[in-house]
Amino acid sequence: MNIQGLIDDIVAENNMAPPAGAVADYIPGLETIDPDQFGIAVAMNSGETYSAGHSSINFSIQSISKVFTLALTMALDGDGLWRRVSREPSGTPFNSLVQLEQEHGIPRNPFINSGALVVTDRLLTITGDSQTSLQAFLRQQSANPSIQVNEAIAAAERATGHRNASLAYFLTSYNNLVNPVPQVLNAYFRQCAIAMSCEDLATAGGFLSRGGQGVDGLPVLTADQVRRLNAVLLTCGTYDAAGDFAYRVGLPCKSGVGGGILAVVPGTCTIAVWGPRLGRSGNSSAGVAALAKLTARTGWSIF
Ligand code: DON
Repeated sequence: MNIQGLIDDIVAENNMAPPAGAVADYIPGLETIDPDQFGIAVAMNSGETYSAGHSSINFSIQSISKVFTLALTMALDGDGLWRRVSREPSGTPFNSLVQLEQEHGIPRNPFINSGALVVTDRLLTITGDSQTSLQAFLRQQSANPSIQVNEAIAAAERATGHRNASLAYFLTSYNNLVNPVPQVLNAYFRQCAIAMSCEDLATAGGFLSRGGQGVDGLPVLTADQVRRLNAVLLTCGTYDAAGDFAYRVGLPCKSGVGGGILAVVPGTCTIAVWGPRLGRSGNSSAGVAALAKLTARTGWSIF
């Protein structure tokens, strides 16, 4: 299969007719990005990496960080986390408050903001510094020691993240956050503000398609854990669009409002796509279109 030719075609098709959508502007700084950039990288389990378009430009990974904090927490804490977070799709926007009261402070899944705050809280308790642990993990797995937080984006989200603050205090009222809210929020905003490229992300996510095996051959997670993590990604990784993603793409995926999407083809490769314009549920419109084409042309869907 000529993977380089396939992704070159997909980039050219995207550039001829870029999908519509609006760049996220609720976090100041995200809206200043050139909205028509588009990149794709495919990291094969066999070791080769293919890339096309703006695949080496850094962007704000935002909620894609949630898959890595969850993986680290599962690695360090086993099944302990699942007493505090469910594993069901929410059917509501990623920052919704409504379900949390109805369900007594237990977030529907670890990828909506409330669930990710609980994961960050747990990782903070275990490591003492979740942000440094996450950054070290991403640098090691992507073999890129320069990965870091975009401090301006982190500060902008700290200044405007009132919904996340509400979720965090609400979780605390149900005793489902252990650490002080400002500390959890700071760690969460900083993890979301990490800047990476498609090439970095596809490489760093390799353990998800290699049955849990990290870049150095050592296990990040067991095969059983990674199978389960991919199941939660498929059902919950793209929020209230998870059904449509399964229908159109058919892969475990995690999106972020910076316009990135990480997709896993278990046993074969990890894919990262990036295009800043978002659809209604906060997922990259160019990204989902590209993944739909790629899975249709390669047969890489899990179905
Ligand atoms: O907490 C927020 O709202 C952002 N830092 C992350 C949201 C996000 O990326 C949702 N993904 N599509």
